Amino acid sequence: MSKIHAAITGIQGYVPDYILTNKELEKMVDTTDEWIMTRTGISQRHILKGEGKATSDMAVEAIKGLLKKTNTKPEEVELVIVCTVTPDMVFPATANIVCDKVGLKNAWGFDLSAACSGFLYGLTTGTRMIESGAHKKVIVVGADKMSAIVDYTDRTTCVIFGDGCGAVMLEPTEESIGVMDSILRSDGSGREFLHQKAGGSLRPASHETIDNKEHFVYQEGKSVFKFAVTNMADVAAEIMERNNLTADDVAWLVPHQANKRIIDATANRMGVGSDKVMINIERYGNTTSGTIPLCLWEWEKQLKKGDNVILAAFGGGFTWGAIWLKWAYNS
Ligand code: UT7
Repeated sequence: MSKIHAAITGIQGYVPDYILTNKELEKMVDTTDEWIMTRTGISQRHILKGEGKATSDMAVEAIKGLLKKTNTKPEEVELVIVCTVTPDMVFPATANIVCDKVGLKNAWGFDLSAACSGFLYGLTTGTRMIESGAHKKVIVVGADKMSAIVDYTDRTTCVIFGDGCGAVMLEPTEESIGVMDSILRSDGSGREFLHQKAGGSLRPASHETIDNKEHFVYQEGKSVFKFAVTNMADVAAEIMERNNLTADDVAWLVPHQANKRIIDATANRMGVGSDKVMINIERYGNTTSGTIPLCLWEWEKQLKKGDNVILAAFGGGFTWGAIWLKWAYNS
């Protein structure tokens, strides 16, 4: 019997309407469009506005579009994995909320927290569920409402992050396409450089945590940059080497969109030209779990069946990894 592979059979993205430009940020903190563009490559980001709007609402939009595109009935979906660091609530899982809002009444689900590598962790987990034969329709969502945990008086973080979401459908195939290989890594000692101090069991919310602004993203940018630039490039090169893929074999690099300079370093290390690199950081900023599926969604029409695609990410945890997939369809 031939091996079952997990293929992405559809993708849908969603970004909220409101756009926060660098010019707007110039009025909020001591920064300039020029600094943000040169140091990060970001010129605007989308922000989810409105009372009662949460990460699940973006996921719902993406999943509804995905079901339509893939001609899937809500009751056919068996599992939903929501990769996020900005769940609607500490519990229940955002996946439960999403299943309820979309009417995925036969699905079970869970949230997966791996920061900017969340989508890679989720895609690998979903793949195993398909390969094992346990499930035939799995949705993996990367969604973050970063504006909920960003301090808009801190110029070192507020210029970087945006809100957004992408969702993929995973289905089994006996063809040699889909997710072919995956390398995932983590190093918890990196947590000191990028984390949210309060709101968990270590420091539950209190007047003191609020006064100290401990419910926002804390990042030591320079240190994170140093680890990101090396590890993301190394793991992308490693997945190519162990699968005997040359730069010519690679049709697309889909990097996590944290900083244009980290993306360029990864592409250089792989020997892949800039024409093969998906970059939309300029318009969306860093949407954490959302960056990679948002790229795939935007480039969907250019992707051809059989294309070798390398996904690579680095983020808080530290977590990082790379996935090699063979694109499964022409749209
Ligand atoms: O996706 C999750 C993983 N995260 C990452 O991969 C992020 C990795 N880190 C980075 O992308 C970069 O470190 C940042 C974009 C966060 C910062 O860029 P940088 O080139 O590393 O800047 P820096 O932190 O070394 O700061 C350089 C200077 C500092 O001023 P002094 O101390 O030299 O006077 C900062 O205070 O730039 C200042 N600065 C700013 N100036 C204008 C920091 N943020 C801003 C700002 N506007 N928004």
